[in-house]
Order: sequence, then C-alpha cells, then structure tokens
Amino acid sequence: MSTLITNIGELVTNEPGAGGFTALSAAALVIDNGRVAWTGEAARAPAADDRVDAAGRAVLPGFVDSHAHLVFAGERGAEFAARMAGLPYSAGGILSTVAATRAASDADLLGNLRRLAAEMLGQGITTFECKSGYGLTVVDEARSVALAARVTPEVTYLGAHVVPPEFQADPAGYVELARGPMLGACAPHARWVDVFCEQGAFDGDQARAILAAGRSAGLLPRVHANQLGHGPGVQVAAEAGAASADHCTYLTDADIAALAGSGTVATLLPGVEFSTRQPYPDARRLLEAGVSVAIATDCNPGSCFTSSMPFCIALAVRDMRMTTREALWSATAGGARALRRDDIGHLGSGARADLIMLNAPLHAYLAYRPGVPQVAAVWRGGSLAAGSADLPAGRGHSRRHRRAPPWV
Ligand code: NIG
Ligand code: FE
Repeated sequence: MSTLITNIGELVTNEPGAGGFTALSAAALVIDNGRVAWTGEAARAPAADDRVDAAGRAVLPGFVDSHAHLVFAGERGAEFAARMAGLPYSAGGILSTVAATRAASDADLLGNLRRLAAEMLGQGITTFECKSGYGLTVVDEARSVALAARVTPEVTYLGAHVVPPEFQADPAGYVELARGPMLGACAPHARWVDVFCEQGAFDGDQARAILAAGRSAGLLPRVHANQLGHGPGVQVAAEAGAASADHCTYLTDADIAALAGSGTVATLLPGVEFSTRQPYPDARRLLEAGVSVAIATDCNPGSCFTSSMPFCIALAVRDMRMTTREALWSATAGGARALRRDDIGHLGSGARADLIMLNAPLHAYLAYRPGVPQVAAVWRGGSLAAGSADLPAGRGHSRRHRRAPPWV
C-alpha cells in the first residue's frame, strides 16, 4: 500500500548528510510500506495507491522528544503557582511525586502514561523517550520502566533521580542500590541509563559510578546536567560518551569545549526555563561551537508540565535566539541524534514515514503563531495516527473555496 502526499507548500526533509535543515517547496512525498519511498517536485511525483492533497500546507518529520518523565501519579499545580508567586524551583518537589507514584496502581500509572503519550502524538511527537525516576525502590523503578516499555522503545532507567527519604542518612547506600539490584531489575526493560547530576541529587563521582554500572548492564548513558547551577554533569556526560547532556542551562567555556569535542548532543529544554523562571541556556554559544543541539519537552509534573513540542520550538526561537530552521532541526533530527537513531527525525529515502502535516504553509508558523494548534495530521510508520488531512472546518464547503488553504 503506497500513499502520495502532494501539493506540499514546504516539505522539510532534513536530508541526512546535508548537516542540517533542508526543505523543498511545491513538493510531494510517497510513503510505501511504512517508509519514505520518494520525495521531490510535485510535478514529477510517481503514482501511488492513495493520494492526499496537502493544499499548500507544510509537511515535516515527526517531532522526536528525547527527554520526558511520563511515569508518575499526582500533580504539582500548587507548587507551580507558588513558584510563579516567587518561590524558587528546587529538586525537592520530586519527592511529592515519588510518594504519589509509589501509592498508585499500575493501571493508574499506565492510564496517565497513555493519556500523555496521546497528547504528545496529537501535537506531532511521533517518538518519545520516557524515564523512570519517581519510584526509587527496586519494585517501583522496575514497574516504571516496564510500564514505559509498553508505550515506547526509548526507555530510560533513572533510579538516580534523587535520594529517597528512607536513604537520607545513607546516600552512599542508595547509590549502591541504584547501581546494583535496582539496575539489575530495570535493565531488561530499558535502553538508557540517566543520572540527575546536580547539587541536591548526585555528585560527579556518584554519577560516574552509576553510568559505568549501567553500561556494564548493557544500557547507554545520558545525563541530567547543569540544570540548576554549574557543576560536573556536562563533563561527566562527555567523558562517559553519553548520547546526550540534558538541560545545559549553566555552561562554562570548558563545558562547551567538552561537548564540542565529543559526540554528546546538548539537549535543551526551554519549557523548563519558562516554567521555573530560570535563565535560558545559551543555544547560540553551543551552535557556534559546533555542538549538536536537540530540543525536547522534559514533560514532567514538576519543572515543566508541557507535552507540546511546538511550544518548545516557539520558546527556542523567541527566547534562545535559534532560527526557525535550527529549532525545527533540533526538535526532529537533533532529538533523533540524542537517541542515536538514524531512521527518524528526517524524511530522506528509507526513513520511517513519521510525519506531520501543519495547517500552515511553512514550519516557521510554529513560532510565528505560538499557542495555536497547527498540527493537522500525524502519520506514524506510514499510517495516519492522529488528526486528519482534510482542510479545517469552514474551508472546502463550496466548490469555489474547495482548494483554499487554511491560512488566508
Ligand atoms: O528534568 N531535573 C530533574 N528532573 C526533572 C524534574 C523533575 C520534577 O521536578 O519532578 C527535570 O527537570
Ligand atoms: Fe528531566
């Protein structure tokens, strides 16, 4: 079964090998067997079993969200309100989510996880990473990763999120648990190991020890680094050959050099800075140093409860001074790089047919019209998974307006 999507105003392809954003105009794309089979000028498109008219709208690779914490119970709306009234964000709020998560049933956790995954899909996220880290016992971490594995292949073991209350007097004992029996129970369900390397969480040596154990258990490292202040996180990530150092809010020149000299992606999470009123990371400095930058949501109940990649793109453009092209690349191909995936994040020939049609002519509208839902349809693995390619209501009722695009 093949599908031709034609009359595409802007087709963002992020052609692999081109080193960044690439796009075609007046374009078409053919999906065959769940993969991208052809892209090019609409006028030269081959025939297919099925035909979808984009009516001049933009088509983009599905967003790749390389950082999210979706296995949790409870909510922290009052903590957010207090923060907006002047209280600072600290890692301590995590423990209230830990208590609620431990008390929740598997069915409740899975229900919340599925609801958030559906929310993401509707906003164009076709691949997401999902961490544990709100269980912090062997049993609760193991069920967190097992539940996450039911909704995504990109599962991260984050037993080293914070030291739980019962280990407050023995943090070293918790590190031993997290790198021993807890890791052993979680590794079969996970692809990644992560550590929150930060004052109030885990220091550089503890982080190194946990990442090394994770690697021995067959997991690949990634690190929560330099979110709340300067510290060793980024250096630890680069040394460990981590796929990604996430947050990167406080960076020294040495941190930037370490990232530039390694294959470690800097994953920026501007929704966190928005929701905590911290300064935004210096994306321009990273880009100018040649560091690969990803943008992700960090969807979690504490520091940032958004599941909207378009919102994060708008923040990256407006507040981190990324160009719309850089931000779009970072939310797609950058996320794929942060997950070491070459089958997603682009629409080159052979890529998984994960793609988004916007109700807009250009990717730039994601930042130009912030807060406006513009994802019309989402295909995952070649099948329509959310929305519809029909023109929005109010268009297409009369013959005369049948082909009118939605933005005029
Ligand atoms: O990525 N930094 C640590 N973990 C999350 C926040 C978790 C929470 O506040 O519940 C983050 O920001
Ligand atoms: Fe996080």
